[in-house]
Amino acid sequence: MPVQTLFPTQVYAAPFGPQAATLNRALLRECLQLRHDDRAGRAWSARNYPGGYTSYNSRCHMQQVSPTFAALARGLDGHVRRFVRALDFDLRGRRLAMTDCWVNIMRARVVHSLHLHPLATISGTYYVSTPAGSAALKFEDPRLDRYMAAPPRKPGARRSNRAWVTLAARAGRVVLFESWLRHEVPPNQSSAERVSISFNYSWF
Ligand code: NI
Repeated sequence: MPVQTLFPTQVYAAPFGPQAATLNRALLRECLQLRHDDRAGRAWSARNYPGGYTSYNSRCHMQQVSPTFAALARGLDGHVRRFVRALDFDLRGRRLAMTDCWVNIMRARVVHSLHLHPLATISGTYYVSTPAGSAALKFEDPRLDRYMAAPPRKPGARRSNRAWVTLAARAGRVVLFESWLRHEVPPNQSSAERVSISFNYSWF
Protein backbone atom coordinates (compact mmCIF):
# COMPACT_ATOMS: atom_id res chain seq x y z
CA MET A 1 0.00 0.00 0.00
CA PRO A 2 1.60 3.34 -1.03
CA VAL A 3 -0.19 5.27 1.73
CA GLN A 4 1.68 5.80 5.02
CA THR A 5 0.09 6.74 8.34
CA LEU A 6 1.96 9.68 9.91
CA PHE A 7 1.34 11.54 13.18
CA PRO A 8 -1.26 9.12 14.50
CA THR A 9 -3.39 9.99 17.53
CA GLN A 10 -3.05 7.04 19.87
CA VAL A 11 -5.62 6.10 22.48
CA TYR A 12 -5.24 3.23 24.94
CA ALA A 13 -8.19 1.17 26.21
CA ALA A 14 -7.82 -2.03 28.23
CA PRO A 15 -9.36 -3.91 31.14
CA PHE A 16 -7.72 -2.79 34.40
CA GLY A 17 -7.03 -6.34 35.55
CA PRO A 18 -8.53 -9.25 37.48
CA GLN A 19 -8.84 -7.21 40.68
CA ALA A 20 -11.18 -4.64 39.05
CA ALA A 21 -14.47 -6.04 40.39
CA THR A 22 -13.24 -6.10 44.00
CA LEU A 23 -11.56 -2.73 43.66
CA ASN A 24 -14.68 -1.19 42.14
CA ARG A 25 -16.87 -2.18 45.08
CA ALA A 26 -14.52 -0.31 47.42
CA LEU A 27 -14.07 2.61 45.02
CA LEU A 28 -17.82 3.03 44.54
CA ARG A 29 -18.37 3.23 48.32
CA GLU A 30 -15.60 5.81 48.63
CA CYS A 31 -16.80 7.89 45.67
CA LEU A 32 -20.31 8.14 47.14
CA GLN A 33 -18.93 8.90 50.60
CA LEU A 34 -16.66 11.56 49.13
CA ARG A 35 -19.60 13.31 47.49
CA HIS A 36 -21.42 13.19 50.83
CA ASP A 37 -18.47 14.71 52.70
CA ASP A 38 -17.18 17.16 50.09
CA ARG A 39 -19.31 20.24 50.59
CA ALA A 40 -16.94 22.48 48.60
CA GLY A 41 -16.97 20.03 45.71
CA ARG A 42 -20.76 19.85 45.68
CA ALA A 43 -20.97 23.65 45.61
CA TRP A 44 -18.37 23.88 42.80
CA SER A 45 -20.18 21.18 40.83
CA ALA A 46 -23.53 22.96 41.20
CA ARG A 47 -21.98 25.96 39.42
CA ASN A 48 -19.76 24.17 36.89
CA TYR A 49 -21.12 20.65 36.38
CA PRO A 50 -24.92 20.97 36.51
CA GLY A 51 -26.62 17.85 37.85
CA GLY A 52 -23.33 16.06 38.41
CA TYR A 53 -20.65 15.85 41.07
CA THR A 54 -16.92 16.13 40.50
CA SER A 55 -14.12 16.50 43.02
CA TYR A 56 -11.93 18.07 40.29
CA ASN A 57 -11.69 21.40 42.09
CA SER A 58 -11.80 20.21 45.71
CA ARG A 59 -10.38 16.72 46.27
CA CYS A 60 -8.17 16.15 43.26
CA HIS A 61 -5.30 14.15 44.82
CA MET A 62 -7.30 11.11 45.87
CA GLN A 63 -4.35 8.80 45.22
CA GLN A 64 -2.56 10.52 48.13
CA VAL A 65 -5.34 10.34 50.71
CA SER A 66 -7.05 6.99 50.12
CA PRO A 67 -5.36 3.56 50.15
CA THR A 68 -8.06 2.35 47.73
CA PHE A 69 -7.28 5.09 45.22
CA ALA A 70 -3.56 4.48 45.80
CA ALA A 71 -4.11 0.82 44.80
CA LEU A 72 -5.89 2.02 41.67
CA ALA A 73 -2.99 4.36 40.90
CA ARG A 74 -0.44 1.54 41.25
CA GLY A 75 -2.39 -0.52 38.72
CA LEU A 76 -2.75 2.45 36.38
CA ASP A 77 1.02 3.03 36.47
CA GLY A 78 1.49 -0.28 34.60
CA HIS A 79 -1.03 0.68 31.93
CA VAL A 80 0.62 4.08 31.52
CA ARG A 81 4.02 2.39 31.06
CA ARG A 82 2.58 0.25 28.26
CA PHE A 83 1.07 3.31 26.59
CA VAL A 84 4.36 5.21 26.88
CA ARG A 85 6.13 2.37 25.09
CA ALA A 86 3.62 2.58 22.25
CA LEU A 87 4.19 6.36 22.05
CA ASP A 88 8.02 5.99 22.01
CA PHE A 89 8.41 8.68 24.70
CA ASP A 90 12.03 9.08 25.79
CA LEU A 91 11.76 9.41 29.57
CA ARG A 92 15.35 8.50 30.44
CA GLY A 93 16.35 10.36 33.61
CA ARG A 94 12.78 11.49 34.16
CA ARG A 95 9.72 9.96 35.68
CA LEU A 96 6.09 10.08 34.67
CA ALA A 97 3.92 10.32 37.78
CA MET A 98 0.26 10.71 38.63
CA THR A 99 -0.36 14.32 39.66
CA ASP A 100 -4.17 14.48 39.95
CA CYS A 101 -6.95 11.98 40.51
CA TRP A 102 -10.57 12.93 41.00
CA VAL A 103 -14.11 11.54 41.02
CA ASN A 104 -16.96 12.19 38.56
CA ILE A 105 -20.56 11.14 39.17
CA MET A 106 -23.11 11.73 36.41
CA ARG A 107 -26.86 11.37 36.75
CA ALA A 108 -29.18 11.13 33.74
CA ARG A 109 -28.72 13.95 31.19
CA VAL A 110 -25.54 15.31 32.78
CA VAL A 111 -22.89 16.29 30.20
CA HIS A 112 -19.18 17.02 30.34
CA SER A 113 -18.46 19.46 27.54
CA LEU A 114 -15.47 19.42 25.18
CA HIS A 115 -12.16 20.01 26.95
CA LEU A 116 -8.52 18.98 27.22
CA HIS A 117 -6.26 18.63 30.25
CA PRO A 118 -3.73 21.50 30.27
CA LEU A 119 -0.40 21.09 32.09
CA ALA A 120 -0.48 17.29 31.88
CA THR A 121 1.20 14.69 29.66
CA ILE A 122 -1.06 11.65 29.81
CA SER A 123 -4.67 11.77 30.99
CA GLY A 124 -7.25 9.11 31.36
CA THR A 125 -10.36 7.71 32.93
CA TYR A 126 -11.15 4.59 34.89
CA TYR A 127 -14.74 3.39 35.04
CA VAL A 128 -16.15 2.38 38.42
CA SER A 129 -19.85 1.97 37.66
CA THR A 130 -21.45 2.15 34.22
CA PRO A 131 -25.15 1.23 34.34
CA ALA A 132 -26.93 0.51 31.04
CA GLY A 133 -27.14 3.67 28.94
CA SER A 134 -23.98 5.24 30.42
CA ALA A 135 -22.58 7.90 28.09
CA ALA A 136 -19.43 7.05 26.13
CA LEU A 137 -16.22 9.06 25.91
CA LYS A 138 -16.01 11.00 22.65
CA PHE A 139 -12.71 12.12 21.12
CA GLU A 140 -12.29 14.83 18.50
CA ASP A 141 -9.74 14.79 15.67
CA PRO A 142 -7.05 17.25 16.88
CA ARG A 143 -6.62 18.58 13.31
CA LEU A 144 -10.25 19.64 13.04
CA ASP A 145 -9.42 23.37 13.23
CA ARG A 146 -7.17 23.00 10.17
CA TYR A 147 -9.66 21.26 7.94
CA MET A 148 -10.24 23.60 5.02
CA ALA A 149 -11.78 22.05 1.92
CA ALA A 150 -11.85 18.59 3.50
CA PRO A 151 -14.94 16.59 2.46
CA PRO A 152 -17.01 14.84 5.10
CA ARG A 153 -16.21 11.17 5.74
CA LYS A 154 -18.30 8.30 4.44
CA PRO A 155 -20.79 6.85 6.92
CA GLY A 156 -18.79 3.61 6.97
CA ALA A 157 -15.36 5.33 7.12
CA ARG A 158 -12.61 3.42 8.89
CA ARG A 159 -12.42 4.31 12.57
CA SER A 160 -8.94 5.79 12.09
CA ASN A 161 -10.29 8.20 9.45
CA ARG A 162 -13.22 9.57 11.42
CA ALA A 163 -13.32 13.08 12.87
CA TRP A 164 -15.01 11.89 16.08
CA VAL A 165 -14.65 8.52 17.74
CA THR A 166 -16.48 7.26 20.81
CA LEU A 167 -15.28 4.66 23.29
CA ALA A 168 -17.94 2.93 25.37
CA ALA A 169 -17.76 3.41 29.13
CA ARG A 170 -17.34 -0.02 30.75
CA ALA A 171 -16.76 -0.65 34.44
CA GLY A 172 -13.22 -1.91 35.01
CA ARG A 173 -11.87 -0.35 31.82
CA VAL A 174 -8.91 2.04 31.62
CA VAL A 175 -8.74 4.65 28.87
CA LEU A 176 -5.57 6.70 28.33
CA PHE A 177 -4.79 9.49 25.88
CA GLU A 178 -2.33 12.32 25.44
CA SER A 179 -3.59 15.28 27.45
CA TRP A 180 -3.88 17.63 24.46
CA LEU A 181 -6.57 15.46 22.87
CA ARG A 182 -9.96 17.13 23.20
CA HIS A 183 -12.81 14.97 24.47
CA GLU A 184 -16.27 15.16 25.94
CA VAL A 185 -18.95 13.05 27.54
CA PRO A 186 -22.28 13.48 25.72
CA PRO A 187 -25.55 13.56 27.72
CA ASN A 188 -25.67 10.55 30.03
CA GLN A 189 -28.59 8.26 29.27
CA SER A 190 -28.42 5.93 32.26
CA SER A 191 -31.09 6.31 34.92
CA ALA A 192 -28.63 5.13 37.57
CA GLU A 193 -25.42 7.08 38.25
CA ARG A 194 -22.35 6.69 36.05
CA VAL A 195 -19.21 6.84 38.19
CA SER A 196 -15.71 7.35 36.86
CA ILE A 197 -12.31 8.44 38.12
CA SER A 198 -10.18 10.74 36.00
CA PHE A 199 -6.46 11.38 36.37
CA ASN A 200 -3.42 13.16 34.96
CA TYR A 201 0.20 12.08 34.69
CA SER A 202 3.04 14.54 34.16
CA TRP A 203 6.76 14.07 33.66
CA PHE A 204 9.41 15.48 35.99
NI1 NI B 1 -11.32 15.00 30.56
